[in-house]
Amino acid sequence: MERLNAEAGKLHIWLRTQANAPAQRPWFRETGIEASGRIAAGRVGAAQLKPVAHRWQWSEIAPYLDRIAEIARGADVSPIEFAERQQFLLTNPGLGGRLQVTSTMRCAVSIYNPGDVAPVHIHTPNASRTILSDSGGYTTIEGERCEAARGDLILTPNGTWHDHGNDGSEPVVWIDVLDFPLMEFLDCVWLDETFPGDTLGNSRAQTVTHAGSYSQRLYGQGGLVPRFVAQRRGFGRDTTPMFHYRGADVREALDGLRQEEGDPYEAIALRFVNPATGASLFPTLDYGALLLRPGEATRFKRETASTLYIAMEGEGATEIGGQRLDWRANDIFVVPSFAWRRHVNKGGIDAVLYTVSDAPLIEKIGQYRAQGRLPDDTVAELVP
Ligand SMILES: [Fe+2]
Repeated sequence: MERLNAEAGKLHIWLRTQANAPAQRPWFRETGIEASGRIAAGRVGAAQLKPVAHRWQWSEIAPYLDRIAEIARGADVSPIEFAERQQFLLTNPGLGGRLQVTSTMRCAVSIYNPGDVAPVHIHTPNASRTILSDSGGYTTIEGERCEAARGDLILTPNGTWHDHGNDGSEPVVWIDVLDFPLMEFLDCVWLDETFPGDTLGNSRAQTVTHAGSYSQRLYGQGGLVPRFVAQRRGFGRDTTPMFHYRGADVREALDGLRQEEGDPYEAIALRFVNPATGASLFPTLDYGALLLRPGEATRFKRETASTLYIAMEGEGATEIGGQRLDWRANDIFVVPSFAWRRHVNKGGIDAVLYTVSDAPLIEKIGQYRAQGRLPDDTVAELVP
């Protein structure tokens, strides 16, 4: 078969019998805690590479930001040309070097030195940045300038003009998450850098057309939505018109709920939603924040969606499919689809995790399932 296939390959076909069948394993005959999709072994097509649970420790990856930034500072070209992007992308070890953390998501860690500008552009992948630095840095989206602070979530939905930069005095670091791999798979990626409006000087930054805190002024009061705007910004469909969610507001909201029982699988969990519709921020991705109180441990849950976690505060561990990943502030980890997982706050202080999940997409295609393990270890369906 091997020889025959080498020959047949020229015709772009691949011959198979049971003996060289692509590895496929049933999910649901396995009920143990380690049950999940298995990485295919043996002769398999590239499309069968599967993301695995993985953690990127901040203490290991952060030094590379300084190294990129150092090279940029000493570069012999204009800062904008060189420093348009200084980042590293996270690669899931199960995906053979592809620049993605799950089958749907790309994640990068970016640094902007004082004076750096990423010129105004527009693209179809939905994107977000989660700010790690205490302050400094900005993103201007459709004329709204969003000043960044730690814990902020700043969104650049499909079809919105945006530029970033740092006009402060300290470097700024944030985490970019995009549905780029999904859009690429669907032949939906395109990008334009020819901004039709005025730009500021030679930095190619768009002019700010809305007074400060525009997102907060429009949508910052829960349950109240202005009637005089379109609730739609940019050409994308079903994307949030609120571009800036403040970390301080998220933290206050979590704290205000700490006396509640919360969810047995997610603790005190909040969803970021499109304020006009209550739907996920993007049609593809759902963003959340969860608070684990000191000593709190959730029950095991699994769902047919992949989730990226960013540890914002505290220290804990997430057990995934029988392995335990310890995390602390700024660590990033990923839980693949349908792997059993639970979170434990190991410390004496609060732990806060931000999440990005592709569940909205999975729901739209009729594939969303979620299960939880009850205290007697039986499995309950969590979606009716
Ligand atoms: Fe962008």
